[in-house]
Amino acid sequence: MNVDLPPNSPLLDRCPEALPARAYYDADWCTRECAAIWARQWVYAGRHDQQPINTLRRIEIAGQSVVLARGGDGMLRAFHNTCRHRGAALCQAEQEAYNGKLIKCPYHAWAYDAAGRLVSTGYATPTADFDKSAHGLFPVHLKLWNGFVFLCLADTPPDFTPDIGLDALDNWPMANLVVGHVLEKDMACNWKVFWENYNECLHCPGIHPELSDLVPVYRSGIMSAEERARVAAGETAQPALKPGARSWTQTGAACGPEFPDLTEEERQRGHTFVTLYPTMYIVGHVDYVRAVTLTPLGPETTRLRAEWLFAPKTLAQPGFDLEGVTRFANTVLMQDGAACEMNQRGLHCSKFNAGRLMPQEFAIYDFHQWVREQMERA
Ligand code: FES
Ligand code: FE
Repeated sequence: MNVDLPPNSPLLDRCPEALPARAYYDADWCTRECAAIWARQWVYAGRHDQQPINTLRRIEIAGQSVVLARGGDGMLRAFHNTCRHRGAALCQAEQEAYNGKLIKCPYHAWAYDAAGRLVSTGYATPTADFDKSAHGLFPVHLKLWNGFVFLCLADTPPDFTPDIGLDALDNWPMANLVVGHVLEKDMACNWKVFWENYNECLHCPGIHPELSDLVPVYRSGIMSAEERARVAAGETAQPALKPGARSWTQTGAACGPEFPDLTEEERQRGHTFVTLYPTMYIVGHVDYVRAVTLTPLGPETTRLRAEWLFAPKTLAQPGFDLEGVTRFANTVLMQDGAACEMNQRGLHCSKFNAGRLMPQEFAIYDFHQWVREQMERA
């Protein structure tokens, strides 16, 4: 196969080494990565409307427990899940009710207001020199974007930068969409293996026959090299669905009313991918949105969670076949998951030190550069 690479491709005249094999299974590497990447970057923590008012939710990020409080005012706030008295966990369950005003420690009843300020030391009477204002909850940075909640453990969070811009999903009524279907699978692979697979389409003809039919350029095993050139030129660059197809469904037909504010180009293309390393990618279709999230559970285990978001009126259509609508992307994700596990199984070979990237794998090269930069910065 002969692929025209854009003139600025870093892979024009060499096939560089991929990350070392141990990056995919070594416990020390995993610990360093956790501190350098997962504890520093914005991490997806669920849809805003999935957490009811007056509840606390417990979330694990980079080995840290975080409590997400949605108070009576509807606002979400995030804190480390640790009481300042003697360090008890404030929220025990995945989700629990509270009065919406005070977060009360279940151990000795210290209580914190919505902003995390210590307002009561419960049964204990502190001495006169005890400074309540210095014993508030440890805050965690929170960002709400298009109804998606992101958390960042870093003291100074990095800019929030989706790869194709903050306005990439502006034409989708994102804040009004609701989760209609969820797929969750623990994959036996390192989280980077999934992103590498996401970043190339050399596997598409062999692994994804249905998807290669829907997106003709994938049949040739590339995500489109000119795609990258057009990205460099500041143009939109994602390949279109086959003629007549509107969305990622079994038949290619839209599963409900198309979102009214999409541009003609967004409709014609049929899918708009937005990537937020390391935590998720979001795909906007003309009729629904899919959000795919990764959570590393260990060096060789990664939780994959995909949420299908619909307009309420789409879900309310009489006889709406949710299973039929979600089957197509479900199949593609399962194919990718199986491919990632296959990749992981071969990485322990004592002779295999590192893979080699082919010219078509320019996006993996970029991803590896991003990983290396994060590690070096830390
Ligand atoms: Fe929380 Fe004592 S540890 S009140
Ligand atoms: Fe794939």
